Amino acid sequence: MIDDTPEASQDLSALLDDVRRHLLWQEEAAGRVLMIDAKAALELQRSAPSLRARFARTQGTADAAPQPRPEAPPARVPPPSTPPARPEAPLPRPPLASPAPRTPGAGMRVDAPPPASRPAGALPGTANGERPTLDEVRRELGDCQRCKLCSTRKNLVFGSGNPRAELVFVGEGPGEHEDLQGVPFVGAAGDLLTKMIGAMGYRRDDVYICNVVKCRPPGNRNPEPEEIASCEPFLRAQLAAIQPKVVVALGKFAAQTLLRDSTPITRLRGNWRTYEGIQLMPTFHPAYLLRSPAEKRKAWEDLQAVMKALGKQPGSRA
Ligand code: URA
Repeated sequence: MIDDTPEASQDLSALLDDVRRHLLWQEEAAGRVLMIDAKAALELQRSAPSLRARFARTQGTADAAPQPRPEAPPARVPPPSTPPARPEAPLPRPPLASPAPRTPGAGMRVDAPPPASRPAGALPGTANGERPTLDEVRRELGDCQRCKLCSTRKNLVFGSGNPRAELVFVGEGPGEHEDLQGVPFVGAAGDLLTKMIGAMGYRRDDVYICNVVKCRPPGNRNPEPEEIASCEPFLRAQLAAIQPKVVVALGKFAAQTLLRDSTPITRLRGNWRTYEGIQLMPTFHPAYLLRSPAEKRKAWEDLQAVMKALGKQPGSRA
C-alpha cells in the first residue's frame, strides 16, 4: 500500500536530498583523487617509464596533462596551548600493511586539516589497493644513469629495512661508507641515527631508511637540483610502496624535497606536516647533530612527538 500522507512525502524528499548530496560529494572526491594521482604519474613520467605504465594501468592517468599540485599552502603550527587539530581519519592500508590503525596519537600537531573525506586509494599508486612494490621501484631504477652521479658512485644506495614499516627515515644522500657498502646510514651519521632509532623503541630492521638521492655526491657535496629531480620520483614511489604511518625527514634536503617547501629546516623542524596523506616530521640531520650536539635535544623532542603518534615507549621494541 502506498503511504501518501504529508509525513511520508517529507521523508521521501529528505531522502532524495541525502542522495543528491552524496552524489555531489562523490563527484568532488573523485576529482581530488584524479588530481593527486595525475601528479604522481607525471612525476614518474620522465624517469620511470615502466612504473608510469603501472600507474597508468591502475589509475589510467599516466599521460594526463600536468596538473597543479593540490597542496594546501604551508600553514604555521598552532601554538602549544592550542588543542591538537584532529588528525585525519585512518588511511586505507591495503593487504601488504600491518592491521594497526593509522590514527596518529593524541597531541599531534598538524599544519592543515586533511581533506574532509579521503576516499580509499587516494595515495599515489594505491587505487584499487594496487601500488608499486619496493622491488618494482628498485627494478625500475636499475643501473641508473639518469644523472651525473652515476659516473662517480661505487654503489647505488636504494634503501634498507622493513618494506612494511610504519616509520620511514629519509636522509639526504649516501656518503663514503654508504657508497662503498650500498646501504644507507652506515657511517658516523648512521651510527647516530641507529641510536636514535633504538631510543625510539625500534630496531633498524623495523623501520625503513632511504635518501633523497641514491648515489653519493662526490666529496659529500650537496646534491644538485637536477640530481634531486632525477631521483625524487623514486623516493616518492618508495613511500607510495611502503605507505608508512609517519615519515621522518632528516635535514633540509629531505624535508624541502618532500614538502616542496623552501622554508629553512630550523623552522620546519618539530612541526607536523602532511605528505600525500602521511604524517611527516621534519627534524635535523644526524650529521648536523654530530657537528652541533647542543641541537640533539630538539631532535629528540621531534622524535618523541613521532613516538607519541605511533604509540611507542622509549626503548621498547616494536
Ligand atoms: N647521510 C645521509 O643523508 N644519508 C646517508 O645514507 C648517510 C649519510
